[in-house]
Amino acid sequence: MNMMNSRIVGVGHYVPEKVVTNHDLEKMMDTNDEWIVERTGIKERRFIDHTKDTCSNMASKATKMALERAKLDINDIDLIVFATITPDYMFPGSGVLMQRELGLDKKTIPAIDIRNACSGFIYALSIADQFIKTGMYKTVAVVGAEIQSTALEFSDRQRHISVIFGDGAGAAILQATDEAGKGILSTHMHADGTFAEELYVKDPGSSRKQGERLTKEMLEGLSIKAHMNGNVVFKHAVVRFMEVIQEALVANKKSKEDVDLIIPHQANLRISNFIQQKLQLEEGKVYNNIQKYGNTTGASIPIAMSEAWAEGKIKENDIICLAAFGSGFTWASALIKW
Ligand code: UT7
Repeated sequence: MNMMNSRIVGVGHYVPEKVVTNHDLEKMMDTNDEWIVERTGIKERRFIDHTKDTCSNMASKATKMALERAKLDINDIDLIVFATITPDYMFPGSGVLMQRELGLDKKTIPAIDIRNACSGFIYALSIADQFIKTGMYKTVAVVGAEIQSTALEFSDRQRHISVIFGDGAGAAILQATDEAGKGILSTHMHADGTFAEELYVKDPGSSRKQGERLTKEMLEGLSIKAHMNGNVVFKHAVVRFMEVIQEALVANKKSKEDVDLIIPHQANLRISNFIQQKLQLEEGKVYNNIQKYGNTTGASIPIAMSEAWAEGKIKENDIICLAAFGSGFTWASALIKW
């Protein structure tokens, strides 16, 4: 079979208008700007206005920006791959809602939902890449979108979680190319379910018996909220980020000097700084925008890619490395020649 490569031909993003600063959070719980900046790097994040923003409509806005930058039309899309852990509904997935929102002439293009949390966008990218390589689809919209804010609890017991997360959406349009050595050079994905409960939301899940999926006690308790063992997640993250970046370099016979920009999932500025120091990279080689948006889970990498591109930090023929780690645990990387 004659395999095609896939290329990212356009990137876009959308973030809600409402800016929530660390000082705003200080008024809601026992926290402070100094702690948040020192431990995470975050200064502010965006929260949705629920009269305007939904997970799927933020994704469709990001997709439209990516299409415009690629000089393509909505009707060019053959497949949607949508990464989110905060879908509009329990089911169906947000992919079909985005398809409806876009209002395509080709009304029945498939939509796949991916729920691999912070690694979701790279998982989605890898799936899209395989479909393009086999020739099944030519133009794929890969999106990551999250609404974390409406699930956060602004209380002292949840302060280690609620200061971190934010809302937003990002998208990349992938197209087939026959230019050798261009586009997505490789993707690597991993998972280790041993640690599933270190970062998860338990309820309302199907692990509960009949009639107990959502109880009054749950509404008061913490099982419907995100549980994160921050120290454990942090320790695994720094190891896995490094491993999966090295894996991408080795697989493509590249050295760290060949990489123009690393775009890590925006989990914590300390994690990004660790990557930069460990790889002994110069200032600016690891892209960060967590300061403005917090951790937007599956949306963080495509938002960062879109901003980096708009700032001229991603140019034709640059080697870009994406890397992520998160709930699952899952982790992944992609090496791209732009
Ligand atoms: O994106 C998915 C993957 N997620 C991650 O990669 C997150 C990884 N983990 C982290 O980023 C960090 O573990 C956190 C930012 C979540 C927490 O930072 P930390 O340096 O690990 O803090 P800690 O949990 O060890 O807490 C240190 C102290 C505690 O007080 P004591 O026990 O030392 O008195 C906490 O109660 O900081 C306290 N604390 C806070 N203080 C002010 C926890 N949250 C807050 C807060 N404001 N919001």
